[in-house]
Amino acid sequence: MVDITNTSPSGSAVHRPIKILSPQLANQIAAGEVVERPASVVKELLENSLDAGATVVLIEIEQGGQKRILIRDNGAGIAKDELALALSRHATSKISNIDDLEHITSMGFRGEALASISSVSRLNLTSKPSAQAQAWQACAEGKQMQVELKPAAHPDGTSIEVLDLFFNTPARRKFLRTGKTEFQHIENIVKRIALTRPDVQFELKHNQKLCCRYPRVKDIAKRIEQVCGKNMLLNCTPIDYSFDGMVLSGYCSKLGHGIATRDLQYTFVNGRMVKDKLLAHALRQVYEDTLPPQSFASYVLYLQVSPQQIDVNVHPAKHEVRFHQSRQVHDIVFKAVNDAISYYADNAATSGKNVLEAPSHNYIQTLSPARSDSSNKDGMSTNFVNNDYSDTQGSRSQSPLGLAKSSQHRSNVPARREIKANHDFYAGIDLPSSSQHPLPTVELTKATQHNQAAHSNEGQNEQHRQLASPSLTMHHYLYNSPYVVLARGENLDVLPISKLLAKIVKIRILDSTIAQPLLMPVSVENKLSIKQTQLDYFANMNMLMSVSHQKLILKQVPCELRQLPWASIFPQLISAEIIAHKLDADILASTIALAWLRSLEVTSSMLNGWMNELGAQQLQTLCEKHAKSLHLSTWMSPDK
Ligand SMILES: Nc1ncnc2c1ncn2[C@@H]1O[C@H](COP(=O)(O)OP(=O)(O)OP(=O)(O)O)[C@@H](O)[C@H]1O
Ligand SMILES: [Mg+2]
Repeated sequence: MVDITNTSPSGSAVHRPIKILSPQLANQIAAGEVVERPASVVKELLENSLDAGATVVLIEIEQGGQKRILIRDNGAGIAKDELALALSRHATSKISNIDDLEHITSMGFRGEALASISSVSRLNLTSKPSAQAQAWQACAEGKQMQVELKPAAHPDGTSIEVLDLFFNTPARRKFLRTGKTEFQHIENIVKRIALTRPDVQFELKHNQKLCCRYPRVKDIAKRIEQVCGKNMLLNCTPIDYSFDGMVLSGYCSKLGHGIATRDLQYTFVNGRMVKDKLLAHALRQVYEDTLPPQSFASYVLYLQVSPQQIDVNVHPAKHEVRFHQSRQVHDIVFKAVNDAISYYADNAATSGKNVLEAPSHNYIQTLSPARSDSSNKDGMSTNFVNNDYSDTQGSRSQSPLGLAKSSQHRSNVPARREIKANHDFYAGIDLPSSSQHPLPTVELTKATQHNQAAHSNEGQNEQHRQLASPSLTMHHYLYNSPYVVLARGENLDVLPISKLLAKIVKIRILDSTIAQPLLMPVSVENKLSIKQTQLDYFANMNMLMSVSHQKLILKQVPCELRQLPWASIFPQLISAEIIAHKLDADILASTIALAWLRSLEVTSSMLNGWMNELGAQQLQTLCEKHAKSLHLSTWMSPDK
C-alpha cells in the first residue's frame, strides 16, 4: 500500500491538510518559471510593448536590471480601470477562448507575465491610452498583492518600472550573476527582439549610458546590419524560400565563413524568438562538414508558418514551439539553407560578386494532394515534391509503405539517368537466407531458364495478352515465404519478392530527382574504407554520405526512398560485397531491397501495392526474367 502521509523526524506519520495557496505564493511559484533573471523581465515587457503596437521602445537598466528596469513605449496603453487587472494573474486582452490559442499571432497570451513580475518586485505601471485625458499609475509590491492607483504625468503609451527584482525571493536572488553578466543577457534579448521588428525603434541604456540604438528601418537587412554588424551581411547569403504555406527568409553563413562563437545564431518562428532544437539540428546538419573546426555558422532566419501549424504554449518562457509537421519543417530548413549556400558558392565563384540576389527559382513546390496526405503517424509529411513531380505531370498515389509513386510520370518522362543495361542483374547478390525467410522450395535460376526455353513465341504472346490485362492476373503471397505466386490464365509464376522489391527500389532511385535529408543521419564504422569514387557514385544516386571520425554517415537519400528504414538498411548496404563491386543502379537497388526485406515483415498489402505500382507489363518482364513459371497441367498431371 502507498503511504500518503509525510513522516516526521521521529519517524511517526504526520498528516498535512491540503490548502489553497495564497495568490501571492501562487504568483511567486509561477514567477519561478517566467522570471528566471532580469533579462526574462525585459523580454516579457518588450513583447507586451510590441503587442501594444509600439513603434518606439526605450529601455533603461540599472545594475544589470536587479535594481531597476524601465521599459517605456508609445503603444496603445492601458485604460485606468484595467490597470489593476493587467497585474492580475490569468488576465489578458490577447485571447478569450481555446480557439484563439490555436491561432495566436501576439507574443503574449497567458496573462501571467505582469502578475509574476509584480510578485517578485516593486512594480509601477503607468499608462495613458490616447483616448484618455489623464495618465494613471498602478503600483504593486510583491509583499501584498494589492494595487494602488494614482494620477500621473505620462504621454500616450505605457511605462513599466520594475524595482528591486527578487527582493522577496532571496533564493532566486542568490543565483543572479554580476550586473555586467546580467546586462549582457538583457542586451542579447534586446538584440533578438530588435531583429524581429525593423519597423520599431529600440534604445537601450545601462546605468544612464546609451548602449545601443536601433532606429526604425525599412528592410530586415538594414536591421541585421544594425544589430549584427556589417560583416554579417558580407559573410552571409540571403534566403527566401516558400513551401506549402511556409516561408523561410533571412541570411546565413556562406560556405566556409564560420566565426569563433555561436553569438550570431538567431532563429525566429512567426516573429517569435525561439531556441528550437529541431531548427538547430537542421542547421547543424547543413554546416557540420563545411566549416573549419571550432568555428560556427551565423544566421538570422525567419520561419513563417500558419499559426495553426505550431503550438506556442509548450515552454514557460515561450522559448520553444512545437511544430505539427516537424519533419517537414526540418527538411525545409535544411534543404533551403543547404541549397542557398551551395547556389551562392557556385554563383559567387563565377560572378565574383560578394552579395548576390536570391535565386529566382523556387525548387520546393507545394505537395500534391495525394502526397500531402502522405503524413506518417506524427502528422509528418513524407517527401518533397520536385517540379518534375507536380500534379500536371501525372497522378500520384500512395504505396503501402507511404511512398508516393508517379507511375504516369515515369512512363511519360524519360528517367533522369539512363538505365545501364546489365545482364548480370542480380549477380553476386544472395537471396535472403533460409533462416530469415523459410520455405525456399524451388530452384529459381534453372526454373527460369526452363521456363524461357519451354515457351514458344506463341505462348509468350498469350502470356503478354494475359498480363497486359491486370484483371486476369491474380497473385498470392505465401505466408512467411520469400516468394509471391502469380496466376496467369493457366500458368503459375513463382517470383522471389526480392526481385520485385529490387525493381521497385531501382525505379525509385532513378526517379528521385533530388536527395532528401534524413531527420537522423545514420552512421556506421568506416571499417571498409570506402573509396571516394564509391562515395561519388552514391552521391550521384542521391545518397549523400560523409566520413567523419572513422564513421561513415548517411545524410541524404533519394527522395522517393525517404521512408525506408535506413537505420537498418545502411549497415547492410555498406558491406564488403557492395564495396568490392563496381557499383551500378541494379546492384545498389538489389542490395537495398534485400536489406529492406530483412528489416521488415512484408505484408500482402505491401506486395499488392508494389505489383500495382509496377503494372502488368513490367510485372511480366520481371516474371520472364526471374520467376519459375509452370503450366497448371504440369502441376496437376496425374504423375505429380
Ligand atoms: N506595454 C503595454 N501596453 C499596453 N497594454 C499592455 C502592456 N503591457 C501589458 N499590457 C496589457 O496587460 C495585459 C497583461 O499583460 P501580461 O504580460 O501579464 O499578459 P499577456 O501579455 O496577455 O500574456 P503573457 O503572460 O503570455 O505575456 C496584456 O494582455 C495587455 O492587455
Ligand atoms: Mg505579456
